[in-house]
Amino acid sequence: MIHTKKIKAVFFWNVVMFLLLAFAASFTACTATDRGSKIINHKCARCHSTKRIYAYKRSKAEWQDIIERMKRHGAKIGKEEIGFLVEYLSAKKK
Ligand code: HEC
Repeated sequence: MIHTKKIKAVFFWNVVMFLLLAFAASFTACTATDRGSKIINHKCARCHSTKRIYAYKRSKAEWQDIIERMKRHGAKIGKEEIGFLVEYLSAKKK
C-alpha cells in the first residue's frame, strides 16, 4: 500500500514539474514577442504603418540609428525601450 502511494506521489510531482516548466517556457517565449509588438503598435505605428518597420532586416547599429531618428521625429520612447527594440528588431527574421 505504502509503496503504491510513493509511486503515485513521484508521478504527481513529475507532472507538476513538467507543467511548471512548460508554463515557464511558453511564458518567457511569449512575453518578449508581446512586449516588442506592443511597443511597436503603441509607439511606432502612430506615424506610419508597421509594414514600414518590418519591411527590411537590419543590423543592431542600423536599428539604433533609425529609432534615435524616430525619437527626433517625435516618437515617445525611453532609453530602455530603445535597447529592447534594437535587440528585438535585429533578432527578427525578415
Ligand atoms: C513622430 C512620428 C514617428 C514615430 C512615432 C515613429 N516614426 Fe518611423 N518614421 C517617421 C518618419 C517621418 C519617417 C520617414 C523619414 C525617415 O526615414 O526618417 C519614418 C521612417 C521609418 C522607417 C524607414 C526608415 C528607412 O531608413 O527606411 C523605419 C524602419 C521606422 N520609421 C521605424 C520606426 C520605429 C521602429 C518606430 C518606433 C520606435 C517609429 N518608426 C516611430 C516618423 C515616425
